[in-house]
Amino acid sequence: MAITTTIGKSHVITGKLGLGTNKVGGHNLFPNLHDEDGLAVVKTALDHGIEMLDTAYMYGLGQSETLIGQAIQGYDRAKIVLATKAAQDPHQDLKPNNDPKFLTQAIDDALLRLKTDYLDIFYIHFPDDKTDKAEAVNAVANARKAGKVRAIGVSNFSLDQIKEANQDDQVDVVEDHYSLVHRDAETTLFPYLKEHQISFVPYFPLASGLLTGKYGPDDADKFKKRFSADEFKEILAALREVDGIADAHQATIAQIMLAWYMKNPDIAVVIPGARLPEQAASNAKALDVDLRDAEYESINELFKNFKTK
Ligand SMILES: NC(=O)c1ccc[n+]([C@@H]2O[C@H](COP(=O)([O-])OP(=O)(O)OC[C@H]3O[C@@H](n4cnc5c(N)ncnc54)[C@H](OP(=O)(O)O)[C@@H]3O)[C@@H](O)[C@H]2O)c1
Repeated sequence: MAITTTIGKSHVITGKLGLGTNKVGGHNLFPNLHDEDGLAVVKTALDHGIEMLDTAYMYGLGQSETLIGQAIQGYDRAKIVLATKAAQDPHQDLKPNNDPKFLTQAIDDALLRLKTDYLDIFYIHFPDDKTDKAEAVNAVANARKAGKVRAIGVSNFSLDQIKEANQDDQVDVVEDHYSLVHRDAETTLFPYLKEHQISFVPYFPLASGLLTGKYGPDDADKFKKRFSADEFKEILAALREVDGIADAHQATIAQIMLAWYMKNPDIAVVIPGARLPEQAASNAKALDVDLRDAEYESINELFKNFKTK
């Protein structure tokens, strides 16, 4: 029986491993994506025991949600946890808009594309620079009262913006950048979130593929925006150690990484993205990895230099 988690103060309960879908229909963000692959990624994940699908209007300007709406036909909606996000305004060059009217309409539009009558989580994808955050959250809370949303999330909000958004204790979940090689949220966000019963969902958990172990020394350039040459070398060296743990479990490095996030009590759900169905199937096998406490600690230690000093 897979371990489950409850999202914030809501009644949304889900397994700790989900699916990220920015490469399902996200043609505006990534080149050479194929919708057939995207549909297969979603179905493969669901067929392998994944419940949470994390999407957004921004992934293909609705196309990701549309594909997911198609892919989930024939599955039991009650067993799927649909999380989507909006804020980028197509009428304002995709600048973030948190205006209550805009968010209310964005929720209705997402419901149509996803072919469902409720969203398990709706996140305000990005803060704008004008709307009072509590007012923005109230718009989502009104959609919750109307039965259209079950849990309220914010994404890419600073701690101060989260506090403003959570004035009335209505925020259930925060999604932000976090991985073993990007650990700032441990100090900046986790203490407040824990104190206020707000769940945390990290994005880029595999550092965009780097933490699968599929890259080598020649790939440093691909990651130079995020990691210095020294940091890149350090990550590859740490991954070689993780490979030993993976061997002991007859697992892949990616599966071990995902098992680490699932064992981490500060993380509600880990949502690795997948471009191809075989990646989704392989990642789902992390559900079978039972990481020992000592292994969890040694992975924590291997990446300790990425903790905020
Ligand atoms: N809230 C936000 O602002 C925000 C921002 C970013 C992402 N997100 C969400 O978070 C999710 C996760 O982030 P992410 O997908 O960008 O990054 P990620 O999970 O760190 O990396 C996913 C990428 O790694 C590669 N990969 C995954 N599994 C693999 C495997 N088993 N073997 C080899 N390669 C594998 C794939 O890319 P290639 O095959 O192309 O190498 C895949 O697209 C997204 O899908 C999205 O739903 C949210």
